[in-house]
Amino acid sequence: MGFKGFGVIAIGILASASLISRFVAQEVLAQAVSSTRDGVYTADQAKLGKVLYQKQCATCHGAALQGKGKSIPLVGNVFLNKWVDQTMADLFMKTNTTMPASAPGTMTPDETSQVLAYILSVNKFQAGQKPLPTDPDGLGAIQIAKP
Ligand code: HEC
Repeated sequence: MGFKGFGVIAIGILASASLISRFVAQEVLAQAVSSTRDGVYTADQAKLGKVLYQKQCATCHGAALQGKGKSIPLVGNVFLNKWVDQTMADLFMKTNTTMPASAPGTMTPDETSQVLAYILSVNKFQAGQKPLPTDPDGLGAIQIAKP
């Protein structure tokens, strides 16, 4: 192979490397980088979640989510500081598997997302067009941030 042939191969390698890195960058972007600030639940979900919350959560966490005794607040800095930089998948897991503490694991995935939508709304995150998902991948792509 002459010098010229080597050059052609080198350019070929460089071109495919840049294609690959562009592809990887797009994949990463497609997966993550939305946050609770980006309108990640619908107003309808939050409305259903409010009814659910009042029935199943308010006795312990308070009508205004302020917390009561051992039942810690679900609103404000105490709550958000604990969850900030985790994802909605973490909060979903915790809620779906351990709450309501009187009957853990009795909420369906849809109900869990509705009640979380309500909790987000009370924490002053805006609603959007897309419902809060119920699958681990969708939820895991939503970072918990401060409003
Ligand atoms: C019988 C009382 C009781 C009921 C009812 C209840 N909780 Fe809780 N909840 C607790 C207690 C106590 C804790 C704190 C201990 C823990 O984290 O497990 C807690 C913690 C939580 C946490 C974690 C908060 C944090 O910052 O770590 C979430 C989220 C939560 N509850 C949501 C709910 C939702 C949503 C409902 C209604 C579907 C509900 N809870 C109903 C008692 C209750």
